[in-house]
Amino acid sequence: MENNTNERNLILDEIIQSRRSVRIFKDDKPLKKDIEDIIEAGMLAPYAAAAVGDNKDFRRFYVFEKGTDSIKTLALLMENKAAEGVKHFEGLISEKPYMKSKFQPFLNRLKMIGDKGIPGVSTAPYFIIIAELRGIPPAEQESLAHVLENMWLKTTALNLGFQLISLTSQMAEDEQLMKLLELPYGKYALNGCAIGYPETIPNPTPRPSTQKATKWMK
Ligand SMILES: Cc1cc2nc3c(=O)[nH]c(=O)nc-3n(C[C@H](O)[C@H](O)[C@H](O)COP(=O)(O)O)c2cc1C
Repeated sequence: MENNTNERNLILDEIIQSRRSVRIFKDDKPLKKDIEDIIEAGMLAPYAAAAVGDNKDFRRFYVFEKGTDSIKTLALLMENKAAEGVKHFEGLISEKPYMKSKFQPFLNRLKMIGDKGIPGVSTAPYFIIIAELRGIPPAEQESLAHVLENMWLKTTALNLGFQLISLTSQMAEDEQLMKLLELPYGKYALNGCAIGYPETIPNPTPRPSTQKATKWMK
C-alpha cells in the first residue's frame, strides 16, 4: 500500500511539474476519446454546491473543432469583443493619460488579437468552452478555475498541450454567443481553453521561492 501511495504521489508531482501553457499547436487532431476524458476530468472538479443549490445542470462543455462553421463564428464574435476592449482602453487612456503605462500592455494585447486573430481559438484543433451556473453568493469563476485546472492536468497527463483563453470569460456577456450555446443570457459564466498536440514544449516559467513565500504561523 505504501509503495502504491508513493507511486501515485510521484506521478502527480510529475504531472503538476510538467504542466505548461502551450501556445503553438500541431495540425494533428487529438483522439476524440482523449478530449472526452479531459472533459470528464473537468466535470469531476469541485463545484460551489451551496451557491448553485438544487440545480443539477450547473456545468456544461462545448467542443469546437478547427475549420467548422461554429469555430469561425466564435472567432469572429471574440474578435469583436477584443475590438470593443480596444475602444474601451483607448477611451480610458485619452480620459486619464496618467494611467497610460498601466493600460497600454493590455491594450497592445487586444490590438494584436485584432491583427492576428484570437490565439488558440482558430489555431488549435480543439477549443472548449466551459459554462458554469452563476449562483448566490457568486462562486462560478472559482469553480471554472477548478474545472480548467483539472482539464489542464489531464491534458498534460495525455501528453497534449493546453492554452487558457481568458478572453472567453467576457463572452458570457455576448448575447449572440449565448444564443449559439443555447444558454439563457446572464445565467452562466464562461471560460475556455485550446487543446492540441504542442508544436514544442515550452520551458518552465519562473516562480518565487516557495520557501521564501511561505510563513508557518505561530
Ligand atoms: C487567470 C489566468 C488567465 C490566463 N489567461 C491566459 C490567456 O488568456 N492566454 C494565455 O495564453 N495564457 C493565459 N494564462 C496562462 C498564464 O499566462 C501562464 O500560466 C503563466 O504565464 C505561467 O506559465 P505556465 O502556465 O507555462 O506555467 C492565464 C493564467 C491564469 C491563471
